[in-house]
Amino acid sequence: MASKILKKMFFSSVVLVSAGFCLFIKWTTDGMCIFCEPKREVSFKRDNKTFLALPNIDCSRTPPFLVVLVTSSLAQSKARMAIRETWGKERVIANKHVVTYFLLGTALNHNNQVAVTAESQKYGDIIQKDFIDTYYNLTLKTMMGLEWIHKFCPQSSFVMKTDSDVFVNTYYLTELLLKKNRNTRFFTGFLKLKERPIRKIYSKWYVSKAEYPGNTYPPFCSGTGYVFSTDVASQVYNISENVPFVKLEDVFIGLCLAELNIKLEELHSKQTFFPEGLKFSPCRYKKIVTSHFVKPHELLLYWSAVERVMDEKCPGSR
Ligand SMILES: *[C@@H]1O[C@H](CO)[C@@H](O)[C@H](O)[C@H]1NC(C)=O
Ligand SMILES: *[C@@H]1O[C@H](CO)[C@@H](O)[C@H](O)[C@H]1NC(C)=O
Ligand SMILES: *[C@@H]1O[C@H](CO)[C@@H](O)[C@H](O)[C@H]1NC(C)=O
Repeated sequence: MASKILKKMFFSSVVLVSAGFCLFIKWTTDGMCIFCEPKREVSFKRDNKTFLALPNIDCSRTPPFLVVLVTSSLAQSKARMAIRETWGKERVIANKHVVTYFLLGTALNHNNQVAVTAESQKYGDIIQKDFIDTYYNLTLKTMMGLEWIHKFCPQSSFVMKTDSDVFVNTYYLTELLLKKNRNTRFFTGFLKLKERPIRKIYSKWYVSKAEYPGNTYPPFCSGTGYVFSTDVASQVYNISENVPFVKLEDVFIGLCLAELNIKLEELHSKQTFFPEGLKFSPCRYKKIVTSHFVKPHELLLYWSAVERVMDEKCPGSR
């Protein structure tokens, strides 16, 4: 009698444990939504808030050739400083004006907000609106940059979006853009043509089926660095309200480009965008556009080394 009850208890606990295990697996692979159907997609919502900080430029008077927009967190003031001293310094390259601005949201902490306002007054290179500055608000941050282009700088020719841990060779990028000579409907970067959503909940890039039900993403370029002709940047901002919101900013841009029917193109026959990083050598970095995972102190070293070989011939170069 007792053994029968024990057996029953044993089997029911096995059933319970395995059911729990299955649910756990489903939860970790599909996301939180176990019992409900995926929700309907939600479109991106533009706000009509005013800008809290604007860069010191009048684009109608001095239209830049290239505007580089950099995402960084509020705390990364060291990285912003290194960029200002290196590739982000305002300069004229091949007679073309190149400027770099930083995109920031707001801090919950008052002291940080005061520091950003001071930084903006000192350097005049910050674009800021009122949204909480977090990683998962990167789409909001990027769209703020495009809103600024749309409203304040449609006279520019090209716009690049990059991150604060990226080495950007603005010299080579300008040279390649001039060579390519594609001034409208142009979008380039490190092409990702058949990327699939990551459904593992612990991943930084996890996207639930509710957020994006499809099995593949439309073509997009790695968020570590992509470049559009300004008409495209402006149109992406314009169309964004008709596009379902995805928190991965580079994917969201891809969705907008698909809606606009804009094809992605290579900038050069050789690889020039390196989202996974690239071992440093001055001659190698002279002929690339981006390299990822560069720390502020490395950026200072790399940039001065590249500038030193700028007018020298590198082995194997044409
Ligand atoms: C924002 O939009 C609302 C509703 O459309 C409008 O009433 C308000 O004046 C707008 N604010 C600004 C700053 O444009
Ligand atoms: C993004 O910013 C908005 C506006 O400040 C805020 O309500 C929201 O919580 C933020 N999202 C995340 C994921 O931090
Ligand atoms: C913005 O989109 C509207 C339709 O949604 C279109 O009529 C208009 O021409 C677009 N403007 C630009 C600058 O692309």
